[in-house]
Amino acid sequence: MIFGASGDLAKRKLLPALYNLHVQKLIPDNTKIVGTSRSEIDDEGFRAQIKEAILEHSRIELEEKSWPSLAEDIHYIPGDVTDEGSMQKLRTILSDMDDQHGTGGNRVWYMALLPQFFGNTAETIARNGMLDTSGWHRLVIEKPFGFDLASATELSATIGAHFSEDQIFRIDHYLGKETVQNLLVFRFANAIFEPIWNRRHIDNVQITVAEDLGIENRGAFYERVGALRDVGQNHLLQLLALITMEPPVSWDAESIRNEKVKILSSVRRWSVRDCETTIARGQYEGYRDEKDVDPSSSVETFVAMKLLIDNWRWADVPFYVRTGKALAAKETEIVINFKRVPHLLFSKTDVEELEPNRLIIRIQPNEGFTLTFGTKVPGPQVNVRTVDMDFDYENEFGSGTPEAYERLLLDAMNGDATLFTRADEILEAWEIVDPILSFWSGGGRPGRYEKGSWGPDAANELPRQDGNRWAKR
Ligand code: BG6
Repeated sequence: MIFGASGDLAKRKLLPALYNLHVQKLIPDNTKIVGTSRSEIDDEGFRAQIKEAILEHSRIELEEKSWPSLAEDIHYIPGDVTDEGSMQKLRTILSDMDDQHGTGGNRVWYMALLPQFFGNTAETIARNGMLDTSGWHRLVIEKPFGFDLASATELSATIGAHFSEDQIFRIDHYLGKETVQNLLVFRFANAIFEPIWNRRHIDNVQITVAEDLGIENRGAFYERVGALRDVGQNHLLQLLALITMEPPVSWDAESIRNEKVKILSSVRRWSVRDCETTIARGQYEGYRDEKDVDPSSSVETFVAMKLLIDNWRWADVPFYVRTGKALAAKETEIVINFKRVPHLLFSKTDVEELEPNRLIIRIQPNEGFTLTFGTKVPGPQVNVRTVDMDFDYENEFGSGTPEAYERLLLDAMNGDATLFTRADEILEAWEIVDPILSFWSGGGRPGRYEKGSWGPDAANELPRQDGNRWAKR
């Protein structure tokens, strides 16, 4: 059951993902997909929209022969969640489906809505008796979950009044990406990295979630959200948690999420004053001319943060993290910079090019890993140069890895919450971000940056203060 079914997310991600799951026969035949939103269309109109969306966005090409069997399971009910009449009608239609198609009263409720509507919609579902069925119920909520710590706590209480924690699936689609899941496999399936994965061997870590596109036509959403809430509070901090957490006791939802909560709670909370030297924000040139954007907007389209983790493994290791729109590339990358050798033997030789070892984890695109190390350049002298050792996903496994939303929708249907964020995790993340929001609300403006650059000058200052620099700038 998709709320917000005629919206962008449903068309670009959810419905193509459901089609891919259907083609791979990963969902039961009697699954029904029901969409609702305020658009006044009928089943046929909705199916036509979905077909178009699949043609445009699906990973697996639409096959004319497998479309009709999915199309007949897709329904649309126009309705407004604030209107009891349309919600009662929805309840009756869903319960008729249970009788006629054996859907057993099982429901996945997907909120593909603007974040301000999550709480109300969850309440509406409960108030209209739609949870009173004999089957299971799972609520999938998009991000951002709340706008700050206070509103996230309130939203948690609102939703928690009707759904228990094991029924709530908070989406961070980064966790559904193959390469993000591989971070844990890489760390915990290999014996050689763990001994050096700490402050003794690692000098600093950089995480970049860069996008080359601007906000496109999402002005209304972006003006309320900005880069910190849109990507910083969730995708960036999730990547940080996976790279830094302790080994979980086992590969299950609670063990993994316990470790993520522990590490997020060890991230130092900056005071509002600290933010002056640890946080940089920017806005791309031309942002204020975008559709639905206030011409004097001070919403950030870029944020960079220096973070510290106060525990034995990571004390004093700076983590520089950044995200932004309209940057030089679409690229999500984690760079682990190792320490320099303690004593260099090659003083008489050309070691200009010898950089400290570096592990680059490419989440997207060109998914893979690169490890750099110093090598002797062939010849009579001892010349040392840095070279790369590469692992490339596509070469190794071929293309065609599942989309994040395919994995997450399937997991939600199966009740597996491993790749979803737990309430306490979200609140820890807001605790990290809240002082930054307070700092910004005290005045000032984001620094301007040119489209196609790596962000405002202030972002380069963060590592520079510590004698470091971004791997790409
Ligand atoms: C979403 C943000 O969560 O992530 C978008 O709302 C952003 O603004 C997107 O573009 C980036 O995701 P991906 O998978 O393209 O890196």
